[in-house]
Order: sequence, then structure tokens, then C-alpha cells
Amino acid sequence: MTESKGDIVRNVPFLEKEGTMRTLIRNGTVVTSVNEYEADIYIEDGIIKEIGKNISRDAEEIIHAEGKLIFPGGVDEHVHYGSFGGRLFETTDAAAAGGTTTIVDFAPQEKGVPLIDAIKKQAAKAQGTACVDFAFHGIIMDPKESVFEEIAQLPEVGVSTLKLFMAYKGTDFYSDDESILKAMMKARECGVTMMVHAENADIINVLQKKYLAEGHTEPVYHYYSRPPVAEEEATKRAIALARTADCPLYVVHVSVKEAMEAIREAYTQGYPVFGETCTHYLTLTTEYLAKPDFEGAKYVCAPPLRPQKHVDALWEAVQKGWLQAVGSDHCALEGGFETKKRGLGDFTKIPNGCPGVQDRLAMLWTEGVCKGRITRQKFIELFATMPAKVVGLYPQKGEIAAGSDADLVIFDPDYEGVIRNEDSLHGIDYSPFEGFPVKGRPEQVYLRGKKIAENGRFIGPKGEGKWQKCRPYAMCYDYFSLN
Ligand code: URP
Ligand code: ZN
Ligand code: ZN
Repeated sequence: MTESKGDIVRNVPFLEKEGTMRTLIRNGTVVTSVNEYEADIYIEDGIIKEIGKNISRDAEEIIHAEGKLIFPGGVDEHVHYGSFGGRLFETTDAAAAGGTTTIVDFAPQEKGVPLIDAIKKQAAKAQGTACVDFAFHGIIMDPKESVFEEIAQLPEVGVSTLKLFMAYKGTDFYSDDESILKAMMKARECGVTMMVHAENADIINVLQKKYLAEGHTEPVYHYYSRPPVAEEEATKRAIALARTADCPLYVVHVSVKEAMEAIREAYTQGYPVFGETCTHYLTLTTEYLAKPDFEGAKYVCAPPLRPQKHVDALWEAVQKGWLQAVGSDHCALEGGFETKKRGLGDFTKIPNGCPGVQDRLAMLWTEGVCKGRITRQKFIELFATMPAKVVGLYPQKGEIAAGSDADLVIFDPDYEGVIRNEDSLHGIDYSPFEGFPVKGRPEQVYLRGKKIAENGRFIGPKGEGKWQKCRPYAMCYDYFSLN
């Protein structure tokens, strides 16, 4: 077909006849976790078929991407849809608009429900609703022998990661050390990577009661009752358990310097111990929790936001590779700020969770790349490549290479704007990043070769996200072959 300078050129009747879709992206700057170069990308039926200079192929859609950067679609390996009070998968258009094309959700397990059934149930909620591709982590909420036995079946349903909670004692989420160790031993046998929510539950319970008894009810006491030492201690204990089980460990939402250092130390000593931090721990501090008029409640998540010293340490950690990925821990609570108000007069009743899936790219790029904290390559690594590797979806996801899914972000680096909740699609009434200036934005977002978002708007249709099956023995197990 004839190319014309400018926007997209289409020949829809041909598509309908042949049933194939061919797209050619011309002259963009392809940015990967290892390099960047100017090239054309040729896509056929949702897959990248060829990357090179002056590709000579017919295509129904030709995009001229001079001056634009091409990123792999983001992989957010830490989101909550429909659990912890989070809104459901119909709000995943927010992910698409923000340049994330794959989300990995945590499938909650109700007591008495087999682990595999819990995953299938969560998948059924996503199927036909999700706007981007999706995969799952298991969560054990019924820690007992028969459930530990089920861990071996996780890879059969495409799940290669499993989260246990050291916090939330007195709820179904909590697992004690014995349960965690037993789960780790099983996980090690079948290539499942263990994840932990590392906060010492007893420290939190005692401090919560103490502060309430002293009459401290405000949101900032969420921080004081979950001090850095609670996370440091639990992280070290999780590492000890993982070492005992000889099981790879991926510590999610690391928020304190000392926990990060424990992970770095274990890795340096030769143990397969890795970690993730989240957008908000890199960009927001405890001061947000201290906002007046209960506004601080909007920022309540667990672990809590930390003082600047930790924020600085986490930037150094992602820059130097001591933490491997940045997730959003997206949890847009149904009802938004009104729901947070359940904790008026008692900070322990403020539900945990903040939205963030749409703003992960913008915040990481603006605060990281534009401020000189990380390179473009490191940005891609944290945003897409490593998350895909950790969960066992690489190189189908998180990469721009022949054979990978054509999940692509055409990024305009010159755009300047401000994050406003009114532009957000996460479906609640506030954004924790409200008012942050951003540089650059996803101009076009492609999911398996199909454009799904443009300039911050989802252009649908909704429900075309597909369940992606994760492979066991993923990145955290690679380490064994190095030794
Ligand atoms: O506050 C948070 N992070 N809510 C979601 C649950 C979790 O622990 O990740
Ligand atoms: Zn957690
Ligand atoms: Zn989470």
C-alpha cells in the first residue's frame, strides 16, 4: 500500500477479507533494557515479526514514529483488582492508558477453597472484562497441609508465583513462620517463586493498640504503628526461611532501606533473594500521611509511605540493581475517599490501598529518567522487562524482539502535563499523584498489535485482554544455574 507522511494509513476492507493484521512502525527509536536504536518494526497478527532499517513489507497500518520512543508495553506485576476492596477489571483501561499492557493480579483464596479454584475464579472475573493482558499470582489464605500440597499444581494453571502474608495477624491473610516455611519447601520442588508481604504482625498489633489507647487516631499513626523495623525484621526472617527451604524469594513492595539492604546482603552472599519496590515508595513520603482533614487517609497503604531517607535509598537500589522491578500495588478502593473514611476516629480501620497503575510509567520516567536517577535502559528494565522475567512471561512480554507480542508504547518524550484525577481512568475520586508534573506520555499503546489507547484515552474495546500463562522456574530460579 502507498505510504503517506503523517498519521496512520488504513486499508480496512483488506483486513476483513484476509483476517490478518499487519502494521509497520517506521523510524521510531526502539528502547530496550540493554540498548536503543532507530528502526522499523513490522507486526503481523499481534507478533513482532521483524525489526530493522527500511523494512520493505506491505501493511494495512503504517505509523510514522520519527522523534518518538518505542517501549515494550509495561508489565505491572503487582496489582489488586476485586480483592482488598479494589475495583474490578473493567477499570484496567487505566493500565492501557498509562502504557501498561500486562498486569499480574493476586488471586485471593477464600478459606476452604482450593488454591487452583481461587485462581480460576479470579480469572473468570478478568476474562471478557480486562482491557489488557493479565496473569496471576497465588495467595495462600488458608495455610494448611492440603493447601501446601496444591502448590505443585500452580504451574499447570499458568501461575509461577505465590504470595504469603507475614502481616495482618488475626485475619485469613496471615501465615505464621511454620506455614511460610512449609509453603516455601513445596514451592522449591515445582519452580514456584515465593513472594512475601514482610511486616512483623506482632509489632504492628501492639503499636496499633498502644497508639489508640493514647488517643492517637489520625492516619499518620498508620506509619508510626508500622515502623521501618517491623519491615526490616520480617524481611530478614523471610530470608532466613527461604534459605532454610533453599527457595528463591521475591520480596514485594519493599519500602525501607534496611529491608532493601537485607535483600542485597543475602543476594551478595549467594542466595536467590530479590525484591520489588513500588512507584509510591519512590515518590511520596510519610508527610502525605500527615495531611490535615483526614486527607492523609488517601495515602494509607501497607507498608506505609516512608521518610525521605528511605526514598533516596530505594532510588539507589533500583539504579544499582539491588531491587529488580517497580510495581504499582494498584488497589483503587471501591468508593474511593468515602471508603477510607471508615477509619475516621481509628486509623487501624482505614482500608489499605491506593491507585497507581495508570501513573507508574509517568512517575518512573519523570522522576527517574528526567531527573537523571536512572537511564532509559534501567527504566525499561524496571517497568517491563524484569517484571516479565520475574513472573515467567519473558520474552513474550516485556521485550521488543522478533517473536515477542507486539505490546508497544509509542512514547512522545516532549509532552508536558500534570497528573489530574479527572484524567484518570481508575474509577475513584482521587489520585495519590495529583498535581505531579509529568514529562512525556504514551501517545499510542498497542496490545498484541492492536491500538488500545491514545494520548491518555482508552480507545477500546474493553474485554480483549487475554490470560497469560506464566512459566515456572522463572528469573529468580536462574540464579541456581549461575552457581
Ligand atoms: O496497601 C496495600 N498494599 N494493599 C494491597 C495489599 C497488599 O498487601 O499488597
Ligand atoms: Zn502486600
Ligand atoms: Zn499489593
